[in-house]
Amino acid sequence: MLHGKKFILGITGSIAAYKAAYLTRLLKKQGAEVKIILTPYGKEFITPVTLATLSDNTVLTDFFKHDDGAWNSHVELGLWADAMIIAPATANTIAKMANGVCDNLLLTTYLSARCPVIVAPAMDLDMFQHPATQANLKTLESYGNHIIEPATGELASGLEGKGRMEEPEKIVTWLEGFLKKKQRFTGKKVLITAGPTFEKIDPVRFIGNYSSGKMGLALAEALVEEGADVSLILGPNLEVGNPRLHRVRRESGIGNRQAEIGRISLIHVVSGEEMYKEAHEIYPDMDVSIMAAAVADFKPLDPKESKIKGKEKGFSIDLVPNPDIAKELGKLKRADQLNIGFALETDEGLESALAKKHRKNFDLIVLNSLQDQGAGFGGDTNQITLIAKDNKPRKFELKSKKDVAKDILDEIVRIGNQDQKLFP
Ligand code: CTP
Repeated sequence: MLHGKKFILGITGSIAAYKAAYLTRLLKKQGAEVKIILTPYGKEFITPVTLATLSDNTVLTDFFKHDDGAWNSHVELGLWADAMIIAPATANTIAKMANGVCDNLLLTTYLSARCPVIVAPAMDLDMFQHPATQANLKTLESYGNHIIEPATGELASGLEGKGRMEEPEKIVTWLEGFLKKKQRFTGKKVLITAGPTFEKIDPVRFIGNYSSGKMGLALAEALVEEGADVSLILGPNLEVGNPRLHRVRRESGIGNRQAEIGRISLIHVVSGEEMYKEAHEIYPDMDVSIMAAAVADFKPLDPKESKIKGKEKGFSIDLVPNPDIAKELGKLKRADQLNIGFALETDEGLESALAKKHRKNFDLIVLNSLQDQGAGFGGDTNQITLIAKDNKPRKFELKSKKDVAKDILDEIVRIGNQDQKLFP
């Protein structure tokens, strides 16, 4: 099942490093390719010769090869792999990963890796339970890394408790499960528009809105996990350090080339016109298009190239409508395509959402009402009402945007299989 998969195995300075030798053997036996990075302390616990023999590859330990000065490119390594596994991961390495410290080849590779990263901690029970370690693990999870919980049992210290690195067989089973997750969207091309658009007034001002793009990003993540090939057209205003955006970037890595999990191509745009052009160009290739962007309805007729002066007197701006992306794509929709729209309303909004659904030829509309606490822009939760082909509204509970994304995907699959069989 792992045949042809490419793994980077990072080994840190723990007595459990001996298990990494067996893990390498199991991965190789399945036909996977393994490249090993050993930290300086890791070398104290297991020799590069053992690991090189088992992995059939040179073991990487330093930034440079000391004999010929050749550079080990951590960037290339991070792009090569389908997944990076750090097993065993010490409390020290976990702390450094959580804080972006990169003082060895393993850590620089981790920071530049675009593939999923899986961490199997190994340490004494008190170190594992320490709030600092627990906080670091939570941070790693929030960055989209996956943690394989350590097992409970006898520890090298002689104590008993939670902290033993999970057994290699179990790690392999975990990897198999991870790489073949439910794949309802495998082979499906999905377009998502997300975030706000900014419409230029002059070089320093724009018309925009409060959309954070978080719902669109949550949808992109959920789709990728189910095998979709996502084109995410994203408006401006997302902080560089946004963990969700980082996660999306990581999932979109070329490193996933051969993985059975999906991919995301991220297309950054600023204005509604740019978003329209990008969406229009790729739309014919798409199976599903989800319009989650809050496109500014109007744009200045005549954006200025220099800053507008004379504010004391006030000034007016002539506005013209932006292209209605959803409506235009709705006109092009074929029978084998699904279009999904959003309606953010300040009141109950059912009637308005139904009207939008018809006007824009949506197969499904997701209504969120700003009347509902925790719904709408900016936050991490949302409360939605789905209106599908039968035009009957179904209201869901307040949930995290991640869980809301799953409900939306379930509904897309349901309607896609109603009249035709678009999904497995
Ligand atoms: N939409 C779009 N392009 C636009 C405006 C809206 O693609 N220029 C899409 C949104 O992404 C959303 C749906 O259309 O999926 C409804 O957006 P909304 O702003 O609620 O609708 P409007 O038609 O702009 O109606 P309103 O008068 O309520 O603003």
